[in-house]
Amino acid sequence: KASPRVRKAFPILIRKLHEFIVEADVTVEEWLAACALLVEAGQVTTEQRDEMVLVSDVLGVESLVDILAFKRSSDAAKNDAQSSAAEPSHSAILGPFYRKGVPFEPNGTSIVRQFEKDADYTRLFGRVFDSEGKPLKGAAVDIWHDAPDGLYDAQDPSKPQYHCRGRFETDENGYYETICLRPTPYPIPFDHSAGKLLQMMGRHPYRPAHIHFWIEAAGHKTLVSQVFDRESDYLKDDAVFAVKDSLIIDFIPIAQGKSAKEGYKAPEELKDV
Ligand code: DHB
Ligand code: FE
Repeated sequence: KASPRVRKAFPILIRKLHEFIVEADVTVEEWLAACALLVEAGQVTTEQRDEMVLVSDVLGVESLVDILAFKRSSDAAKNDAQSSAAEPSHSAILGPFYRKGVPFEPNGTSIVRQFEKDADYTRLFGRVFDSEGKPLKGAAVDIWHDAPDGLYDAQDPSKPQYHCRGRFETDENGYYETICLRPTPYPIPFDHSAGKLLQMMGRHPYRPAHIHFWIEAAGHKTLVSQVFDRESDYLKDDAVFAVKDSLIIDFIPIAQGKSAKEGYKAPEELKDV
């Protein structure tokens, strides 16, 4: 027997799909080509790469469900009379390159695991707060970004394991810190279904420079997000529509590193650079 959720959602899906077919006057050949594209997506999917998710990304679907999920949970928080909820950080899509089981390292450890001579080394730090605005100790912060050649670690076995990827635990002030690189704009894999769709639409495959986060703590909702480099190309035309204004950040040269947010004291060694 169909669940209530299916009973509600499927008639909408079928009605909208039929509307699309009629309104766009889809031909038999076009529909079979669409099916072939999905078959190809299944065939090229591996552990490192979910082509079906990529297809949904270039159509803006993963971003749309992320926007809805964020709205759902912030509406729920607002309706919860008990909570003195602070405005939460915005979420963003996970993308295909998250890896589970990365070992913890001490705060401050660099995730740049081979020398990258043309990249900007970056001190990346922040604080994690619970929904009441209190610093959260012991939260796990997974961070990953692409190397200067635009590749993530799993895409390039010639590099050291976990290059530009690491996992940290927040201290009693909710504080975490690492050394990473200023990331590079990156084309999503475009040699199969998702790429064919982009080509058909005359669109490019690039994402603006970004760093991924997965922040979790027992008893708290997990935050999956990204931050974007304000000076990057493609902020206005991200191939997968993930940019949100509040997630755009500035990379500040360390010599001017007085950007410490209120309540945060810069680490000792930052003070004399
Ligand atoms: C996608 C997201 C990413 O962060 C990335 O680096 C590549 C692709 C995506 O959503 O398809
Ligand atoms: Fe990414």
